[in-house]
Amino acid sequence: MTESTARVDTRLCRHLVNQLYVILRIVKIYQPNNASVANALEGFLNVLRSVAGTWENVTIEAMVGCLYVNGVRLKVDVAGYASHRYIVQEMEKFGLRNIIITDRLGIEELRTFAYAVTEIDGGRPGFEQLRSALDEKGISNISITKSTGADSQLDDKRAQGAEERAKKTYHNTIKIVKQIMHSASHFEAVKLRRAKRAVQSIVDSILHDESFLLSLATIKSHDEYTFNHCVNVCIYSVALGQRLGLSKSRLGQLGMAALFHDLGKVEIPWDILNKPEGLNREEWELVKAHTVHGTRLLAKLCRLDEQSLRAIVVAYEHHVNFDLTGYPAVRKDRTIDLFSKIVRITDAFDAMTTSRIYRMIPRNPHDSVLFLVREGGKSFDPHLVRVFVSMTGIYPVGTVLELDTGESAVVVKPSRDASDIARPSVSIIAGSEGVQCGGEILSLAETDGQGRYLRNVKRVLEADQFGLNVPELLVGPLGMDTAGVQ
Ligand SMILES: [Fe+2]
Ligand SMILES: [Fe+2]
Repeated sequence: MTESTARVDTRLCRHLVNQLYVILRIVKIYQPNNASVANALEGFLNVLRSVAGTWENVTIEAMVGCLYVNGVRLKVDVAGYASHRYIVQEMEKFGLRNIIITDRLGIEELRTFAYAVTEIDGGRPGFEQLRSALDEKGISNISITKSTGADSQLDDKRAQGAEERAKKTYHNTIKIVKQIMHSASHFEAVKLRRAKRAVQSIVDSILHDESFLLSLATIKSHDEYTFNHCVNVCIYSVALGQRLGLSKSRLGQLGMAALFHDLGKVEIPWDILNKPEGLNREEWELVKAHTVHGTRLLAKLCRLDEQSLRAIVVAYEHHVNFDLTGYPAVRKDRTIDLFSKIVRITDAFDAMTTSRIYRMIPRNPHDSVLFLVREGGKSFDPHLVRVFVSMTGIYPVGTVLELDTGESAVVVKPSRDASDIARPSVSIIAGSEGVQCGGEILSLAETDGQGRYLRNVKRVLEADQFGLNVPELLVGPLGMDTAGVQ
Protein backbone atom coordinates (compact mmCIF):
# COMPACT_ATOMS: atom_id res chain seq x y z
CA MET A 1 0.00 0.00 0.00
CA THR A 2 1.52 3.35 -0.96
CA GLU A 3 1.71 6.14 1.58
CA SER A 4 -0.91 8.21 -0.26
CA THR A 5 -3.31 5.24 -0.41
CA ALA A 6 -2.83 4.65 3.34
CA ARG A 7 -3.68 8.29 3.99
CA VAL A 8 -6.90 8.04 1.96
CA ASP A 9 -7.87 4.84 3.78
CA THR A 10 -7.37 6.38 7.22
CA ARG A 11 -9.48 9.35 6.24
CA LEU A 12 -12.22 7.00 5.03
CA CYS A 13 -12.02 4.97 8.24
CA ARG A 14 -12.43 8.10 10.34
CA HIS A 15 -15.37 9.03 8.15
CA LEU A 16 -16.85 5.56 8.73
CA VAL A 17 -16.61 5.99 12.52
CA ASN A 18 -18.16 9.43 12.22
CA GLN A 19 -21.06 8.03 10.18
CA LEU A 20 -21.63 5.30 12.77
CA TYR A 21 -21.73 8.02 15.43
CA VAL A 22 -24.28 9.99 13.37
CA ILE A 23 -26.50 6.90 13.10
CA LEU A 24 -26.35 6.06 16.81
CA ARG A 25 -27.18 9.63 17.77
CA ILE A 26 -29.92 10.14 15.23
CA VAL A 27 -31.83 6.91 15.98
CA LYS A 28 -32.16 8.15 19.57
CA ILE A 29 -34.20 11.08 18.27
CA TYR A 30 -36.14 9.88 15.21
CA GLN A 31 -38.48 7.03 14.32
CA PRO A 32 -37.13 4.33 11.96
CA ASN A 33 -39.05 5.68 8.92
CA ASN A 34 -37.73 9.24 9.25
CA ALA A 35 -35.84 10.61 6.23
CA SER A 36 -32.91 11.78 8.40
CA VAL A 37 -32.43 8.20 9.61
CA ALA A 38 -32.44 6.91 6.03
CA ASN A 39 -29.87 9.55 5.02
CA ALA A 40 -27.61 8.61 7.92
CA LEU A 41 -27.85 4.88 7.12
CA GLU A 42 -27.11 5.48 3.43
CA GLY A 43 -24.22 7.76 4.34
CA PHE A 44 -22.67 4.99 6.43
CA LEU A 45 -23.19 2.33 3.74
CA ASN A 46 -21.58 4.54 1.09
CA VAL A 47 -18.46 4.93 3.20
CA LEU A 48 -18.53 1.24 4.16
CA ARG A 49 -18.52 0.27 0.47
CA SER A 50 -15.50 2.48 -0.18
CA VAL A 51 -13.63 1.03 2.80
CA ALA A 52 -14.73 -2.53 2.09
CA GLY A 53 -13.70 -2.07 -1.56
CA THR A 54 -10.14 -1.92 -0.27
CA TRP A 55 -10.40 -4.44 2.53
CA GLU A 56 -13.59 -6.52 2.01
CA ASN A 57 -14.96 -6.97 5.54
CA VAL A 58 -14.46 -4.15 7.99
CA THR A 59 -13.53 -4.61 11.65
CA ILE A 60 -13.85 -1.75 14.13
CA GLU A 61 -11.82 -2.54 17.23
CA ALA A 62 -11.73 -0.66 20.55
CA MET A 63 -8.64 -1.07 22.68
CA VAL A 64 -7.37 1.06 25.59
CA GLY A 65 -9.38 4.09 24.51
CA CYS A 66 -8.28 3.85 20.86
CA LEU A 67 -10.12 2.77 17.74
CA TYR A 68 -8.64 0.62 15.00
CA VAL A 69 -10.25 -0.11 11.65
CA ASN A 70 -8.87 -3.31 10.13
CA GLY A 71 -5.84 -2.97 12.35
CA VAL A 72 -5.12 0.67 11.50
CA ARG A 73 -5.18 2.96 14.54
CA LEU A 74 -7.28 6.04 13.91
CA LYS A 75 -5.76 9.34 14.86
CA VAL A 76 -8.27 11.87 16.07
CA ASP A 77 -8.40 15.51 15.13
CA VAL A 78 -10.42 18.12 16.98
CA ALA A 79 -13.25 17.88 14.42
CA GLY A 80 -13.56 14.10 14.81
CA TYR A 81 -12.96 13.99 18.54
CA ALA A 82 -16.57 13.74 19.73
CA SER A 83 -17.52 10.91 17.36
CA HIS A 84 -14.35 8.93 18.10
CA ARG A 85 -14.84 9.25 21.85
CA TYR A 86 -18.52 8.35 21.65
CA ILE A 87 -17.89 5.12 19.71
CA VAL A 88 -15.09 4.10 22.11
CA GLN A 89 -17.38 4.69 25.08
CA GLU A 90 -20.30 2.83 23.53
CA MET A 91 -18.06 -0.16 22.76
CA GLU A 92 -16.67 -0.12 26.30
CA LYS A 93 -20.17 0.15 27.73
CA PHE A 94 -21.25 -2.99 25.83
CA GLY A 95 -17.97 -4.81 26.58
CA LEU A 96 -17.14 -5.00 22.86
CA ARG A 97 -13.70 -5.63 21.46
CA ASN A 98 -14.72 -5.81 17.79
CA ILE A 99 -17.62 -4.94 15.51
CA ILE A 100 -17.20 -6.89 12.26
CA ILE A 101 -19.25 -5.72 9.29
CA THR A 102 -19.44 -7.58 5.98
CA ASP A 103 -19.76 -5.85 2.64
CA ARG A 104 -23.16 -7.52 2.17
CA LEU A 105 -24.76 -5.32 4.84
CA GLY A 106 -27.94 -3.65 3.57
CA ILE A 107 -29.92 -0.66 4.79
CA GLU A 108 -32.69 -2.61 6.59
CA GLU A 109 -30.24 -4.77 8.53
CA LEU A 110 -28.25 -1.69 9.51
CA ARG A 111 -31.44 0.06 10.63
CA THR A 112 -32.41 -2.95 12.76
CA PHE A 113 -28.92 -3.03 14.29
CA ALA A 114 -28.96 0.68 15.15
CA TYR A 115 -32.35 0.53 16.89
CA ALA A 116 -31.36 -2.67 18.74
CA VAL A 117 -28.28 -0.91 20.14
CA THR A 118 -30.35 2.12 21.17
CA GLU A 119 -33.01 -0.01 22.84
CA ILE A 120 -30.46 -1.90 24.96
CA ASP A 121 -28.47 1.28 25.61
CA GLY A 122 -31.53 2.78 27.33
CA GLY A 123 -31.88 -0.29 29.60
CA ARG A 124 -28.99 -2.48 30.74
CA PRO A 125 -26.26 -2.34 28.14
CA GLY A 126 -24.11 -5.46 28.06
CA PHE A 127 -22.42 -7.81 25.64
CA GLU A 128 -24.83 -10.76 26.10
CA GLN A 129 -27.90 -8.52 25.76
CA LEU A 130 -26.60 -7.15 22.47
CA ARG A 131 -25.55 -10.53 21.10
CA SER A 132 -28.97 -12.05 21.92
CA ALA A 133 -30.72 -9.08 20.27
CA LEU A 134 -28.63 -9.45 17.10
CA ASP A 135 -29.39 -13.21 16.99
CA GLU A 136 -33.10 -12.65 17.62
CA LYS A 137 -33.38 -10.06 14.89
CA GLY A 138 -31.50 -12.21 12.39
CA ILE A 139 -28.59 -9.82 11.95
CA SER A 140 -25.87 -11.80 10.21
CA ASN A 141 -23.78 -9.14 8.51
CA ILE A 142 -22.73 -7.42 11.73
CA SER A 143 -21.08 -9.55 14.39
CA ILE A 144 -19.45 -8.63 17.68
CA THR A 145 -16.70 -10.04 19.86
CA LYS A 146 -16.27 -9.53 23.56
CA SER A 147 -13.55 -7.97 25.68
CA THR A 148 -13.13 -11.10 27.77
CA GLY A 149 -13.53 -11.32 31.57
CA ALA A 150 -10.21 -13.15 31.71
CA ASP A 151 -8.65 -10.08 30.16
CA SER A 152 -10.22 -7.81 32.75
CA GLN A 153 -9.03 -9.92 35.73
CA LEU A 154 -5.56 -9.87 34.34
CA ASP A 155 -6.00 -6.17 33.63
CA ASP A 156 -6.80 -5.53 37.33
CA LYS A 157 -3.50 -7.08 38.40
CA ARG A 158 -1.64 -5.28 35.64
CA ALA A 159 -3.35 -2.02 36.66
CA GLN A 160 -2.04 -2.29 40.24
CA GLY A 161 1.49 -2.85 38.98
CA ALA A 162 1.06 -0.05 36.47
CA GLU A 163 -0.09 2.36 39.22
CA GLU A 164 2.99 1.60 41.30
CA ARG A 165 5.19 2.12 38.25
CA ALA A 166 3.38 5.39 37.46
CA LYS A 167 4.01 6.66 41.02
CA LYS A 168 7.69 5.79 40.73
CA THR A 169 7.86 7.49 37.34
CA TYR A 170 6.28 10.62 38.83
CA HIS A 171 8.75 10.91 41.71
CA ASN A 172 11.68 9.92 39.52
CA THR A 173 10.80 12.58 36.95
CA ILE A 174 10.75 15.23 39.68
CA LYS A 175 14.25 14.15 40.70
CA ILE A 176 15.44 14.36 37.09
CA VAL A 177 13.91 17.82 36.57
CA LYS A 178 15.62 18.98 39.76
CA GLN A 179 19.00 17.67 38.58
CA ILE A 180 18.63 19.17 35.11
CA MET A 181 17.56 22.57 36.45
CA HIS A 182 20.51 22.50 38.84
CA SER A 183 22.89 21.70 35.97
CA ALA A 184 21.36 24.39 33.78
CA SER A 185 21.70 27.00 36.51
CA HIS A 186 25.41 26.14 36.79
CA PHE A 187 25.85 26.05 32.99
CA GLU A 188 26.84 22.39 33.15
CA ALA A 189 26.06 20.05 30.26
CA VAL A 190 22.52 18.76 30.51
CA LYS A 191 21.91 15.06 29.91
CA LEU A 192 18.46 14.71 28.49
CA ARG A 193 18.57 10.94 28.00
CA ARG A 194 17.12 10.17 31.45
CA ALA A 195 14.46 12.84 31.04
CA LYS A 196 13.45 11.36 27.67
CA ARG A 197 13.11 7.91 29.27
CA ALA A 198 11.02 9.35 32.11
CA VAL A 199 8.75 11.21 29.68
CA GLN A 200 8.35 8.02 27.66
CA SER A 201 7.19 6.25 30.85
CA ILE A 202 4.67 9.05 31.41
CA VAL A 203 3.42 8.63 27.84
CA ASP A 204 3.10 4.85 28.33
CA SER A 205 1.23 5.32 31.63
CA ILE A 206 -1.19 7.81 30.07
CA LEU A 207 -1.89 5.50 27.15
CA HIS A 208 -2.58 2.78 29.72
CA ASP A 209 -4.70 4.70 32.27
CA GLU A 210 -5.04 8.42 31.88
CA SER A 211 -7.09 8.95 35.06
CA PHE A 212 -4.40 7.59 37.43
CA LEU A 213 -1.82 9.99 36.01
CA LEU A 214 -4.31 12.85 36.31
CA SER A 215 -4.66 11.85 39.99
CA LEU A 216 -0.89 12.04 40.40
CA ALA A 217 -0.94 15.53 38.89
CA THR A 218 -3.00 16.66 41.90
CA ILE A 219 0.22 16.33 43.91
CA LYS A 220 1.36 19.89 44.49
CA SER A 221 4.37 21.07 46.35
CA HIS A 222 4.41 24.45 47.94
CA ASP A 223 8.14 24.30 48.67
CA GLU A 224 9.30 22.71 45.47
CA TYR A 225 6.67 24.29 43.27
CA THR A 226 8.67 24.52 40.06
CA PHE A 227 9.67 20.84 39.96
CA ASN A 228 6.20 19.42 40.69
CA HIS A 229 4.67 22.01 38.39
CA CYS A 230 6.88 20.96 35.46
CA VAL A 231 5.97 17.29 35.88
CA ASN A 232 2.26 18.08 36.29
CA VAL A 233 2.27 20.26 33.17
CA CYS A 234 3.99 17.39 31.34
CA ILE A 235 1.25 14.95 32.46
CA TYR A 236 -1.66 17.24 31.56
CA SER A 237 -0.07 18.09 28.21
CA VAL A 238 0.56 14.47 27.21
CA ALA A 239 -2.98 13.55 28.28
CA LEU A 240 -4.39 16.39 26.17
CA GLY A 241 -2.12 15.45 23.25
CA GLN A 242 -3.36 11.89 23.49
CA ARG A 243 -6.95 13.15 23.22
CA LEU A 244 -5.93 14.97 20.05
CA GLY A 245 -4.64 11.70 18.57
CA LEU A 246 -0.94 12.62 18.49
CA SER A 247 1.36 9.68 17.75
CA LYS A 248 3.47 8.21 20.53
CA SER A 249 6.63 9.90 19.27
CA ARG A 250 4.89 13.29 19.04
CA LEU A 251 3.56 12.75 22.58
CA GLY A 252 7.16 12.20 23.67
CA GLN A 253 8.21 15.49 22.04
CA LEU A 254 5.26 17.30 23.61
CA GLY A 255 6.08 15.82 27.04
CA MET A 256 9.69 16.98 26.84
CA ALA A 257 8.69 20.48 25.74
CA ALA A 258 6.17 20.68 28.58
CA LEU A 259 8.67 19.37 31.13
CA PHE A 260 11.14 22.14 30.34
CA HIS A 261 8.76 25.01 29.57
CA ASP A 262 9.91 26.91 32.69
CA LEU A 263 13.62 26.05 32.52
CA GLY A 264 14.38 29.79 32.24
CA LYS A 265 13.21 30.26 35.85
CA VAL A 266 16.62 29.00 36.98
CA GLU A 267 17.90 32.49 36.06
CA ILE A 268 15.33 34.34 38.19
CA PRO A 269 16.40 35.08 41.77
CA TRP A 270 14.69 32.79 44.28
CA ASP A 271 13.45 35.66 46.46
CA ILE A 272 11.63 37.22 43.52
CA LEU A 273 9.94 33.97 42.50
CA ASN A 274 8.86 33.46 46.12
CA LYS A 275 8.04 37.00 47.14
CA PRO A 276 4.97 36.95 49.40
CA GLU A 277 3.68 40.38 48.39
CA GLY A 278 3.04 41.59 44.82
CA LEU A 279 5.95 42.21 42.47
CA ASN A 280 6.92 45.73 41.44
CA ARG A 281 7.26 46.63 37.77
CA GLU A 282 10.98 45.78 37.47
CA GLU A 283 10.59 42.48 39.31
CA TRP A 284 7.68 41.49 37.09
CA GLU A 285 9.78 42.23 33.98
CA LEU A 286 12.49 39.95 35.41
CA VAL A 287 9.98 37.11 35.91
CA LYS A 288 8.57 37.56 32.42
CA ALA A 289 12.08 37.15 31.00
CA HIS A 290 12.08 33.45 32.01
CA THR A 291 10.63 32.71 28.54
CA VAL A 292 13.64 34.27 26.82
CA HIS A 293 16.11 32.74 29.30
CA GLY A 294 14.53 29.30 28.73
CA THR A 295 14.87 29.68 24.97
CA ARG A 296 18.52 30.67 25.25
CA LEU A 297 19.38 27.94 27.78
CA LEU A 298 17.75 25.17 25.78
CA ALA A 299 19.44 26.36 22.59
CA LYS A 300 22.78 26.41 24.38
CA LEU A 301 22.53 23.22 26.41
CA CYS A 302 20.82 20.81 24.04
CA ARG A 303 21.86 19.25 20.78
CA LEU A 304 19.71 20.88 18.14
CA ASP A 305 17.28 18.34 16.78
CA GLU A 306 13.54 18.46 16.09
CA GLN A 307 12.69 17.66 19.71
CA SER A 308 14.86 20.43 21.15
CA LEU A 309 13.53 22.91 18.60
CA ARG A 310 9.93 22.22 19.66
CA ALA A 311 10.98 22.64 23.32
CA ILE A 312 12.71 25.92 22.49
CA VAL A 313 9.57 27.24 20.78
CA VAL A 314 7.39 26.22 23.75
CA ALA A 315 9.77 27.83 26.26
CA TYR A 316 9.44 31.05 24.26
CA GLU A 317 5.70 30.98 23.49
CA HIS A 318 3.99 29.41 26.52
CA HIS A 319 2.79 32.75 27.94
CA VAL A 320 1.59 34.10 24.58
CA ASN A 321 -2.19 34.21 24.59
CA PHE A 322 -4.48 32.88 21.87
CA ASP A 323 -5.22 36.51 20.87
CA LEU A 324 -1.42 37.11 20.68
CA THR A 325 -1.36 39.33 23.77
CA GLY A 326 0.66 38.12 26.78
CA TYR A 327 4.42 37.88 26.79
CA PRO A 328 6.91 38.05 25.22
CA ALA A 329 5.44 40.50 22.68
CA VAL A 330 5.01 38.81 19.30
CA ARG A 331 4.04 40.02 15.82
CA LYS A 332 0.32 40.01 15.17
CA ASP A 333 0.68 37.63 12.22
CA ARG A 334 2.57 35.01 14.22
CA THR A 335 1.29 31.44 14.19
CA ILE A 336 1.62 29.92 17.64
CA ASP A 337 2.83 26.31 17.76
CA LEU A 338 0.23 23.68 18.75
CA PHE A 339 2.48 22.47 21.60
CA SER A 340 2.73 26.04 22.96
CA LYS A 341 -1.07 26.39 22.88
CA ILE A 342 -1.41 23.11 24.78
CA VAL A 343 1.13 24.15 27.42
CA ARG A 344 -0.53 27.60 27.69
CA ILE A 345 -3.63 25.78 29.02
CA THR A 346 -2.04 23.04 31.13
CA ASP A 347 0.46 25.49 32.67
CA ALA A 348 -2.35 27.84 33.70
CA PHE A 349 -4.48 25.00 35.08
CA ASP A 350 -1.70 23.59 37.27
CA ALA A 351 -0.59 27.03 38.44
CA MET A 352 -4.14 28.01 39.44
CA THR A 353 -4.73 24.83 41.41
CA THR A 354 -1.50 25.12 43.42
CA SER A 355 -1.00 27.24 46.54
CA ARG A 356 1.85 29.74 46.32
CA ILE A 357 3.44 31.95 48.89
CA TYR A 358 1.52 34.97 47.53
CA ARG A 359 -1.77 33.02 47.27
CA MET A 360 -1.98 30.40 49.99
CA ILE A 361 -5.48 29.19 49.05
CA PRO A 362 -5.42 27.77 45.54
CA ARG A 363 -8.39 27.96 43.18
CA ASN A 364 -10.31 24.67 43.31
CA PRO A 365 -10.13 22.51 40.14
CA HIS A 366 -13.77 23.22 39.22
CA ASP A 367 -13.35 27.01 39.33
CA SER A 368 -10.07 26.64 37.43
CA VAL A 369 -11.83 24.80 34.60
CA LEU A 370 -14.53 27.48 34.49
CA PHE A 371 -11.79 30.10 34.24
CA LEU A 372 -10.25 28.28 31.26
CA VAL A 373 -13.65 28.20 29.56
CA ARG A 374 -14.27 31.91 30.21
CA GLU A 375 -10.85 32.78 28.81
CA GLY A 376 -11.27 30.57 25.73
CA GLY A 377 -10.75 32.73 22.64
CA LYS A 378 -8.77 35.28 24.65
CA SER A 379 -5.98 33.65 26.66
CA PHE A 380 -6.53 30.08 25.45
CA ASP A 381 -7.37 28.29 22.23
CA PRO A 382 -11.12 27.58 22.65
CA HIS A 383 -11.02 24.29 20.72
CA LEU A 384 -8.22 22.96 22.90
CA VAL A 385 -10.03 24.15 26.04
CA ARG A 386 -13.06 22.15 24.91
CA VAL A 387 -10.95 19.01 24.52
CA PHE A 388 -9.25 19.68 27.86
CA VAL A 389 -12.59 20.05 29.65
CA SER A 390 -13.98 16.93 28.00
CA MET A 391 -10.90 15.17 29.42
CA THR A 392 -11.08 16.55 32.96
CA GLY A 393 -14.85 17.09 33.17
CA ILE A 394 -16.18 20.21 34.86
CA TYR A 395 -15.38 18.59 38.21
CA PRO A 396 -11.78 17.46 37.57
CA VAL A 397 -10.10 14.64 39.48
CA GLY A 398 -9.39 15.89 43.00
CA THR A 399 -12.43 18.19 43.25
CA VAL A 400 -14.16 17.80 46.62
CA LEU A 401 -17.95 17.83 46.43
CA GLU A 402 -20.94 17.99 48.74
CA LEU A 403 -23.75 15.88 47.30
CA ASP A 404 -27.48 16.40 47.73
CA THR A 405 -27.56 13.18 49.80
CA GLY A 406 -25.49 14.97 52.48
CA GLU A 407 -22.41 12.91 51.58
CA SER A 408 -19.00 14.38 50.81
CA ALA A 409 -16.94 12.94 48.02
CA VAL A 410 -13.77 13.44 46.03
CA VAL A 411 -13.75 13.06 42.25
CA VAL A 412 -11.59 10.08 41.23
CA LYS A 413 -12.38 9.67 37.53
CA PRO A 414 -13.97 11.87 34.87
CA SER A 415 -17.31 10.77 33.44
CA ARG A 416 -17.03 7.90 30.96
CA ASP A 417 -19.59 9.62 28.79
CA ALA A 418 -18.12 12.69 27.08
CA SER A 419 -21.62 14.13 26.66
CA ASP A 420 -22.09 14.20 30.44
CA ILE A 421 -19.00 15.93 31.78
CA ALA A 422 -20.77 16.92 35.02
CA ARG A 423 -21.20 13.37 36.36
CA PRO A 424 -17.81 11.91 37.26
CA SER A 425 -17.01 8.89 39.43
CA VAL A 426 -16.42 9.82 43.05
CA SER A 427 -15.09 8.28 46.22
CA ILE A 428 -17.39 8.88 49.19
CA ILE A 429 -15.29 10.21 52.05
CA ALA A 430 -18.05 11.12 54.55
CA GLY A 431 -21.59 9.81 54.82
CA SER A 432 -24.80 11.78 55.33
CA GLU A 433 -24.28 11.71 59.13
CA GLY A 434 -20.77 13.08 58.72
CA VAL A 435 -19.32 9.65 59.42
CA GLN A 436 -16.07 8.87 57.69
CA CYS A 437 -16.57 6.34 54.88
CA GLY A 438 -14.25 3.77 53.38
CA GLY A 439 -14.02 5.50 50.03
CA GLU A 440 -16.73 3.58 48.17
CA ILE A 441 -16.42 4.51 44.49
CA LEU A 442 -19.57 5.22 42.51
CA SER A 443 -20.67 7.13 39.47
CA LEU A 444 -22.80 10.27 39.71
CA ALA A 445 -24.42 9.08 36.45
CA GLU A 446 -26.16 6.21 38.32
CA THR A 447 -29.95 6.40 38.15
CA ASP A 448 -32.89 4.72 39.84
CA GLY A 449 -35.46 2.67 37.89
CA GLN A 450 -37.20 5.87 36.69
CA GLY A 451 -34.10 7.48 35.25
CA ARG A 452 -33.62 9.89 38.19
CA TYR A 453 -30.06 10.47 39.31
CA LEU A 454 -29.27 8.91 42.69
CA ARG A 455 -26.86 11.71 43.60
CA ASN A 456 -26.36 15.28 42.43
CA VAL A 457 -23.66 17.82 43.12
CA LYS A 458 -24.85 20.37 45.68
CA ARG A 459 -21.67 22.45 45.85
CA VAL A 460 -17.92 22.34 45.52
CA LEU A 461 -15.99 22.26 48.80
CA GLU A 462 -12.58 23.78 49.37
CA ALA A 463 -10.29 20.86 50.28
CA ASP A 464 -7.95 23.10 52.30
CA GLN A 465 -10.76 24.24 54.61
CA PHE A 466 -11.35 20.63 55.62
CA GLY A 467 -7.67 19.77 55.94
CA LEU A 468 -8.03 17.09 53.29
CA ASN A 469 -4.94 15.73 51.60
CA VAL A 470 -6.55 15.08 48.24
CA PRO A 471 -3.56 13.44 46.50
CA GLU A 472 -3.29 10.88 49.32
CA LEU A 473 -6.99 10.15 49.04
CA LEU A 474 -6.52 9.51 45.34
CA VAL A 475 -3.23 7.68 45.01
CA GLY A 476 -2.37 6.49 48.52
CA PRO A 477 0.68 7.33 50.63
CA LEU A 478 3.00 9.72 48.83
CA GLY A 479 6.24 9.42 50.78
CA MET A 480 8.09 6.87 48.74
CA ASP A 481 11.57 5.74 48.23
CA THR A 482 12.63 6.43 44.71
CA ALA A 483 16.21 5.38 45.21
CA GLY A 484 17.44 3.25 42.40
CA VAL A 485 14.56 4.17 40.15
CA GLN A 486 15.87 5.20 36.75
FE1 LIG B 1 6.24 30.02 32.52
FE1 LIG C 1 4.84 27.17 34.16
